[in-house]
Amino acid sequence: MPLDADTWNDRYLRRDMGWDKGRCAPPIARLLAEGLLPASAHVAIVGAGRGFEAIEASRFFQHVTAIDFAPEAVKAMHEAKTATGLAFTPLLADVLTLHQTHPGAFDAIVEHTCYCAIDPSQRDAYVTAVSGALKPGGLLLGLFYNHGRRGGPPFDTTEADVRSRFVDFTFERFVKARDSFPGRVGEEWEFVLRRKG
Ligand SMILES: C[S@@+](CC[C@H](N)C(=O)[O-])C[C@H]1O[C@@H](n2cnc3c(N)ncnc32)[C@H](O)[C@@H]1O
Repeated sequence: MPLDADTWNDRYLRRDMGWDKGRCAPPIARLLAEGLLPASAHVAIVGAGRGFEAIEASRFFQHVTAIDFAPEAVKAMHEAKTATGLAFTPLLADVLTLHQTHPGAFDAIVEHTCYCAIDPSQRDAYVTAVSGALKPGGLLLGLFYNHGRRGGPPFDTTEADVRSRFVDFTFERFVKARDSFPGRVGEEWEFVLRRKG
């Protein structure tokens, strides 16, 4: 099964969305509330889905861009934006081209179940894209899914995998999250990585 925009869009159309908990993951909400960034920061959410992380980020930051390549997800984000009255920007785009479309644009990128959603053969392209879309010194923060099972999506993400690929980042935090959703407890790396340079 190709993990392209059509495949993901079809999952939204069929409501085959087991990942979708209907609210922002608690560790992401906590990270956003920590004061790691000023309110003026430009924050991107990658693989934003129906926009729960974007809604949460909009409570703290003035400029939030929520990126997904599935039109149904972006449509749902526009609806959520209208319903909440919060100011964020839903964007239909491929995360893997962010370094070309948004070079050095973001102070921070929030990752939650995007890295585990792409094919592992695309992981180096993901690192290039997010690294190139961050300002020097910008933050990549969020959760990597370390469930230890074969296959996917979601594909497993080990500490060794992350440390071998994100070599242009300083690891400021890399710990197991303590407040994951039930069913994911002990299976999520909570991280704050700072782009070098
Ligand atoms: C597992 S869902 C997670 C959605 C959301 N973060 C959540 O937890 O509810 C993965 C999302 O990433 C999106 N996605 C996967 N690959 C992508 C890519 N290359 N560019 C943009 N979005 C992508 C899918 O369309 C899907 O909405």
